Amino acid sequence: MKKIRIHIEEKTQTYPIIIGRGIMRKIENYLPVNAYGKIVIITDCVIEKLLLKNKPQLFSVTTDSVVLPVGERAKTIETVQEIWRELLALNADRSTLIVNIGGGVVCDVGGFAASTFMRGVDFINVPTTLLSQVDASVGGKTGVNFEEIKNIVGTFQQPKAVIIDVETLSTLPEKILTEGFAEIIKHGLIADKKYFKMVTTKKPKEFSQDELIDIITKSCAIKKKIVEKDVREGGLRRLLNFGHTVGQAIEAASFENNIPLLHGEAVSIGMVAESYISLQKKMISKKTFEDIIEKIASTGLPVRVSGMEKKTILEKMQHDKKQNNGRIQWTLLNKIGEGVVDKSVSEELINSAIERTIGL
Ligand code: GLY
Repeated sequence: MKKIRIHIEEKTQTYPIIIGRGIMRKIENYLPVNAYGKIVIITDCVIEKLLLKNKPQLFSVTTDSVVLPVGERAKTIETVQEIWRELLALNADRSTLIVNIGGGVVCDVGGFAASTFMRGVDFINVPTTLLSQVDASVGGKTGVNFEEIKNIVGTFQQPKAVIIDVETLSTLPEKILTEGFAEIIKHGLIADKKYFKMVTTKKPKEFSQDELIDIITKSCAIKKKIVEKDVREGGLRRLLNFGHTVGQAIEAASFENNIPLLHGEAVSIGMVAESYISLQKKMISKKTFEDIIEKIASTGLPVRVSGMEKKTILEKMQHDKKQNNGRIQWTLLNKIGEGVVDKSVSEELINSAIERTIGL
């Protein structure tokens, strides 16, 4: 078992990220749950069936559950209202602990509901997908999509703990495991060349559970270092947006065009587009660019997309939260292992990067 401690805002808020095998049923070892008046589990219908129903109880005390529909389309303010309604019906109060068990959607929506109900109740995250284990569950971003814009409404609220059990990954389809590697590769590209090389040596499904524990620990450590320095994304945290400016626009466009891409797939395509911009700005060499594409593609992640209109992608980019005074602040690469924030990119270069991405 591995343990990382994350300190936010001058160490006034600190919480553990516990990473191991079979630890989901030992949450009480890591958190004083008896100190809470009530425990409410928020999960989705797939996780409930796979990991919770007909299994030994997670807690020795009685718990209530709120079960959400599955998928990105459930990441709405209506779902949050439903959670608030259920919390009221359960007589939840400030002594309630919310336990989010699921992927990124459950952690983001459950965290948002917890951070707003009665102006904030404690919550922990038990992420069950690789993508959420290395990204959404750590760092305190919560939120929902609104008017087709991803994560546009939300809060910064840190969980009390993050419990990561790699055994939950054994139930994942290969495509969902592979999508998690997009954020892992991103961590390598922005912060650690050796790590980038290591995580692209074989297909995601070929890593053992012990290797995955090491990978998740390393990714959480990279994210922790960044978030501790800049929790509210004033600057450095924007490093974590690498691949997301183009990626989130492609993801939103894919929903509109009814060919939905997974978040990690869109980020993978976005990382290639943003590496291309880094190349055109002469920040990385052609050889480095080709190396990035080859390594990303070797994991099984997509590097381009077809059937999408440039206009739709550009429109989606206009809503990007990463804008300042109407200009997008880009995170690009100086080299593999070194990201750089707040770069400006000309309209012409943005256009050519999108054209390349959609195969024009
Ligand atoms: N997902 C990027 C961040 O937490 O800042």
